[in-house]
Amino acid sequence: MIALANDHAGIEFKKEIIALLEELKLPYTDLGVNSPESTDYPLWGYRAARLVASGECDRGIVVCGTGVGISLAANKVRGIRCVVCTDCYSAKLSREHNDANMIALGARVLGPDLAKMILRVWLETPFAGGERHTRRVHMIHRIEQGEEL
Ligand code: RB5
Repeated sequence: MIALANDHAGIEFKKEIIALLEELKLPYTDLGVNSPESTDYPLWGYRAARLVASGECDRGIVVCGTGVGISLAANKVRGIRCVVCTDCYSAKLSREHNDANMIALGARVLGPDLAKMILRVWLETPFAGGERHTRRVHMIHRIEQGEEL
């Protein structure tokens, strides 16, 4: 299950994402928002992140104007590795090397075709695993736990 959330900047953009998820037959839960009133992106980043961190959702997709604010909020939730992506290479490597469990997209930055291309790559690429990548992802966790590296 994929957690999907956005602020007011991402409403139209989200429709494109939903079309892709439906094409790929990937189940999702749309947390909102769906009304154009101004809202606070941290709330939506947080809500999606909580579902991913708790294991209720496997991955999360969040959208705001730039992808930046909502990713910052999501990354404050323990266990979340949320990446802002504006290109396919970063999207692919964020899965292979960083095991990113959330992606943030900027509705005011990306066109819909590029966004869907990025998302498709991100959704279809598995974590490469292996000692080197696993160790580094684990180091991120250790920082989160307040450990010294
Ligand atoms: C809302 O105007 C805008 O600040 C928000 O969508 C996002 O870009 C924040 O990072």
